[in-house]
Amino acid sequence: MPAKAIIGGQWGDEGKGKYTDIFAAHARYAVRFQGGNNAGHTIVPGDGGRSLRLHLVPSSIRRPGCIPVIGNGVVVDPEVLVSELSQLESLGYDVSALRLSANAHLIMPYHKILDRVSERYLGKNRVGTTKKGIGPAYSDKAARIGLRVQDLLDEKILLEKLESVLREKNQILAKVYNQLPLEASELAARYSELGKQLAPYICDTVSLLNEALEKGESALLEGAQGTLLDIDHGSYPFVTSSSCTIGGACSGSGIPLRHISKVIGVVKAYVTRVGAGPFPTEADPLSQEMIVSKGKEFGTTTGRKRRCGWFDCVLLRYASRINGFDEIHLTKLDVLSGFESIPVAIAYDIGGKKTKDMPYHQSEFHHARPIYEEIQGWSEEIRRAQKPEDLPLEVRQFVEIAEESAGCRVASVSVGPAEDQTVFFD
Ligand code: GDP
Ligand code: IMO
Ligand code: MG
Repeated sequence: MPAKAIIGGQWGDEGKGKYTDIFAAHARYAVRFQGGNNAGHTIVPGDGGRSLRLHLVPSSIRRPGCIPVIGNGVVVDPEVLVSELSQLESLGYDVSALRLSANAHLIMPYHKILDRVSERYLGKNRVGTTKKGIGPAYSDKAARIGLRVQDLLDEKILLEKLESVLREKNQILAKVYNQLPLEASELAARYSELGKQLAPYICDTVSLLNEALEKGESALLEGAQGTLLDIDHGSYPFVTSSSCTIGGACSGSGIPLRHISKVIGVVKAYVTRVGAGPFPTEADPLSQEMIVSKGKEFGTTTGRKRRCGWFDCVLLRYASRINGFDEIHLTKLDVLSGFESIPVAIAYDIGGKKTKDMPYHQSEFHHARPIYEEIQGWSEEIRRAQKPEDLPLEVRQFVEIAEESAGCRVASVSVGPAEDQTVFFD
């Protein structure tokens, strides 16, 4: 029983949480492999039970048979993790099985401060981050001055590392950003206390996962963010700071390629984006309002209104190529019910040239004008659809367009937030 990866095909919030929860019912491990608590993943049980919003803990927590793992590629804010775990416990979930990689990097208070204050210097290149300290933490990882989960377990080592790192950070905080300096001993005491609370979960997750896979157990790799937010393949610099695509699934979990048997893309039937950056199919304000209100398009993490636009075949083709999707799941089709016709971008016009490929040049992407095909809408509500025959013909047509762009099958469509509002195709 090998590993499967779930990857967002657009700019995040495609519904990865919903599908991770569904597939986790048949997996032994569910692994977050990148990102941090910039992610917000929503699960809505089919039985009318309470919905859950997760930021760091894998979206498998409702499945007692599935062990949640936070892999080495994640950046962990210990304060956030401790509070998320206690919230889950107070809701009656057993979190004792959680495994946390000793090698995952930490988000420290100075990362959060720097994320908050540094964007003001970027002017029109401001990314609109979630301000959770993600970029600064990954920067320190790459600069080899990051602190890791294992450092929480020894206060003396933690203090030494903090003294060293704060020598530079405090200069930057005070002299560049006019912020108060931080005290190493205070941080060391506070974070080693958090370390004590997290100690039962900390382990070598790479060995754990590989031994399990070698024994024939299964793992689900839960992506956060989406392909167009990937540090290498996204709409740089308007991206996050981690590898949200399939390559990140291997490096962020330590699971080799040969164990990954399926790459599953989750793709919305329209496109949303939180934060700044180019967005060729961004809709007119009125259509955006309709989509926002029907699709409840507000960020799970920051509460910001999501920018909304039409389905973009160029993006999907690109995402499928980068990740090698074996199948995709098309979400939020119910939100499009009632539109007389639905624009779908089949190509871009860039400087008078028609192309179906993502332009590699940033300015070209900024100036790409979508070439739309109008597809016939459907008036009926589809939220109660259970099987393919319940779906209007127009939805099937939408599915065909998605399959053609992705170059793989649409394995299901999602017609509502709940687990059971999902129509699987054979
Ligand atoms: P993720 O970050 O990819 O896990 O997605 P989020 O959970 O941040 O955002 C997706 C939102 O859409 C959540 O509120 C889900 O409950 C909701 N959702 C997922 N699938 C559907 C669907 O098919 N229809 C509707 N109306 N909502 C959905
Ligand atoms: P999930 O996993 C949507 C966006 C931010 C910002 C950019 C960089 O729920 O799909 P960061 O704080 O990561 O440095 O911000 O990335 N962003 C997301 N947008 N869904 C997410 O996660 C996101 N995580 C980060 O809005 O534009
Ligand atoms: Mg989300």
